[in-house]
Amino acid sequence: MPWIDAKYYAATQVMDEARHVEVFARYLDEKLSGHYPINAHLGLLLDDILADSRWDMTYLGMQVMVEGLALAAFGFMHQMTTEPLLKQLLRYVMSDEARHVAFGVLSLQEYYKELTDAEMQDRVEFAFEAAVRMRDRFLQQEVWDRMGVT
Ligand SMILES: [Fe+2]
Repeated sequence: MPWIDAKYYAATQVMDEARHVEVFARYLDEKLSGHYPINAHLGLLLDDILADSRWDMTYLGMQVMVEGLALAAFGFMHQMTTEPLLKQLLRYVMSDEARHVAFGVLSLQEYYKELTDAEMQDRVEFAFEAAVRMRDRFLQQEVWDRMGVT
């Protein structure tokens, strides 16, 4: 992104995400029976987001779509679980994720004011494609494969 303040912010988000990966990996591996590899559809979505050379597309994909998905998924788990440790760590992670989404929304609000209708249409299509991949993620193929259902 073009602004130094946004770069500083992004560095703090990298630290947040590293903590999230560590805490969830430890929870899954030590308290439960281990973890699954990344879902194929989510992996493709992340590849698309990172491959785009336009910083705002990466922001739209990562800060708004993927962080929004994470916030919703963690919120759902937080409501469903009765396990106190998971509930507590989800609360901490969700407060980070809410900050990540908010930063994306605030940054893009300003930037989108300068875009043409055609440029905005590109962003709409990108968001639609991301939503389709996120929908396909819910099919959870890797879970069915591990359980021997094909
Ligand atoms: Fe995040």
